[in-house]
Amino acid sequence: MQFTVAIDGPAASGKGTISRAVAGLFGFAHLDTGLIYRATGKRVLAGEAPIDAARDLRAEDLAADGLRTPEVAQAASQVAAIPEVRAALVAFQRGFARRDGGAVLDGRDIGTVICPAAEVKLFVTASDAVRAGRRWRELVESGHDITEAEVLADLRTRDKRDAERDAAPMVAAADALVLDTTALSIEDAVARAAEAVRARLPAA
Ligand code: CDP
Repeated sequence: MQFTVAIDGPAASGKGTISRAVAGLFGFAHLDTGLIYRATGKRVLAGEAPIDAARDLRAEDLAADGLRTPEVAQAASQVAAIPEVRAALVAFQRGFARRDGGAVLDGRDIGTVICPAAEVKLFVTASDAVRAGRRWRELVESGHDITEAEVLADLRTRDKRDAERDAAPMVAAADALVLDTTALSIEDAVARAAEAVRARLPAA
């Protein structure tokens, strides 16, 4: 069975948590496409040219340490605005989306560019303050020395760049279900996402 769940949204909106939970509930594979751009950004920080970095990307790059830092996130958002970088990464994402057994992909352009025919599309948002608070706690828990104000500034800079770029800007697909998680618990957000998936699953 091929079945694609596309989950997009701004930085730290909860899309990763929802994606992992939905993949677990339905036994689908999960791809965090942000990691692809982060891994490309990390190679660029190490001195490689952006387009070469995207073309040379290997599966093991996605498992590297240090992909979650704000510095790498900023580098990711900069390389992600380059059309040739995005083009180099399309085939892998589309292949993953159509693998047998179902797939959840989360990112910025999954429902609009990578998988416009996805069976389920969600756009997950939350207020800036809530997103910054969540990401700040994650970073502090994993040992980073950073203030909440610095996290908020990182999210805002990236969201603006991601939404305003010409190449595959971050935008909700016209047919996406918008899930605002500002005042929604993770359990409720996952329950709504799961309901949207169940409604589209082929009858067993
Ligand atoms: O985890 P967070 O939501 O903060 O970011 P991410 O999903 O890991 O993505 C990091 C950066 O990669 C984003 O700010 C985007 O610039 C870029 N990205 C993208 O352009 N397209 C995607 N499908 C996924 C990420």
